[in-house]
Amino acid sequence: MTATAAASAAYIVAGLLFILSLARLSRHETAKTGNGFGIAGMAIALAATIGLATRSISAIGLTLLVAAMAVGAAIGLWRAAKVEMTGMPELIAILHSFVGLAAVLVGWNGYLSVEANAGEQTEVAGNLLGIHSAEVVIGVFIGAVTFTGSIVAFLKLSGRIKSNPLILPAHNALNLGALVAFAVLTVFFVIDPNLALLTAVTALALALGWHLVASIGGGDMPVVVSMLNSYSGWAAAASGFLLGNDLLIITGALVGSSGAYLSYIMCKAMNRSFISVIAGGFGNEGSASTDDRDYGEHTEIDADAVAELLREAESVIITPGYGMAVAQAQSAVAELTRHLRAKGIDVRFGIHPVAGRLPGHMNVLLAEAKVPYDVVLEMDEINDDFTDTDVVLVIGANDTVNPAATDDPGSPIAGMPVLKVWEAERVVVFKRSMNTGYAGVQNPLFFRDNSRMLFGDARERVEDILRAL
Ligand code: TAP
Repeated sequence: MTATAAASAAYIVAGLLFILSLARLSRHETAKTGNGFGIAGMAIALAATIGLATRSISAIGLTLLVAAMAVGAAIGLWRAAKVEMTGMPELIAILHSFVGLAAVLVGWNGYLSVEANAGEQTEVAGNLLGIHSAEVVIGVFIGAVTFTGSIVAFLKLSGRIKSNPLILPAHNALNLGALVAFAVLTVFFVIDPNLALLTAVTALALALGWHLVASIGGGDMPVVVSMLNSYSGWAAAASGFLLGNDLLIITGALVGSSGAYLSYIMCKAMNRSFISVIAGGFGNEGSASTDDRDYGEHTEIDADAVAELLREAESVIITPGYGMAVAQAQSAVAELTRHLRAKGIDVRFGIHPVAGRLPGHMNVLLAEAKVPYDVVLEMDEINDDFTDTDVVLVIGANDTVNPAATDDPGSPIAGMPVLKVWEAERVVVFKRSMNTGYAGVQNPLFFRDNSRMLFGDARERVEDILRAL
């Protein structure tokens, strides 16, 4: 078997492992093996690519390649080991930006090694030059949009810039204009590839990526993260075409299409228009999230009184949110669940599809704390049961239990389905202050007659309740 045939065989095995990995990642029970398949696929892909490269690059080139991989792997291992669960979305966003940047560099390299050397002997024959130029310009465009879009997502998710949408005058026209300009520049570049045009496309795409994500409000960030995941896949596929690497095309297409489908599912779950979100809030004229309405007074409660409520309850639903992750309260919450269930109280969990900062964030934390899967229900499975529930414990959730989403058409989160916790007899909200949640929207739940605020760190408060019980 020739080296090329062996590499192709290895690429097919790696591609199959990636498909198996994606299939298994879709359920928590099989997610761990899914990760294993992904790691195995990537190891085979790297070995085959390096094996193939040894035939065509110099010893210095190979040394540089291995050194770059070692440095990259060391940084990756260090960051992944250090990152807090709550910092995962930022890490993912920054990793997407690297894929975007790599696609831009691959595109520029393609231009500099082929089009810029026109007249000299290059591996791209005359009539294929147009196709090559189109690959260059499309790869650079998708990569640059992904690069700056992911950087803005990183800055928003890490709280370095405000999560409120940036609404420039005529922002929809700006986005559409940028797409039209890209189409025109692409045609000119294919006819006459030159440095000025490629620079213009790169600058245009960098600005568009920035603007697209800056225009999206905090509540829609989960869709943006999966959308950028999809873009990073298409950017990798574009690089695959330029480098003539089939596996990169397959992998990029898998990431691109699964990310697009995840964005679509999330848009449906959050009652958002898919087109509007991928087009940077197209059609959304943006409502101001400043809300100075007077909602009245909130009522506080202490841990002893919550313990008393729980002692008398027959049914309890716990709705965790980002604050449970920040407080690392999942083990204490699991302990409280065991305690109450041992006393014959029906305890279940209601999980909102975008609770926390990652798809499945709450499920992962609860699984880690060994909460049985059968009491952890999705929003749609539990949303009609709040009316028959004695006590709801809202542990560090805010936007996902905000009645403004259903009651206030002017709210920035209007239309987003939420957990209807206020329908229960008593609601206890665990948080540290009256601050807003991620979307920056005031929550009228806190001021309802049947709501009680239990202030402080969620883990400490749950532990206080356990002691009182
Ligand atoms: P959020 O709306 O983010 O609210 C979390 C609440 O937890 C805050 O109000 C905060 O109030 C409280 N909190 C923080 N630390 C705490 C601690 N140590 N102890 C007790 N409480 C604490 O949470 P959510 O309901 O889970 O909603 C998620 C939001 O994030 C949505 O807007 C969603 O769109 C967005 N988002 C989600 C994702 C994904 S994929 N899940 C990705 C990006 C963005 P205090 O500061 O007063 O304590």
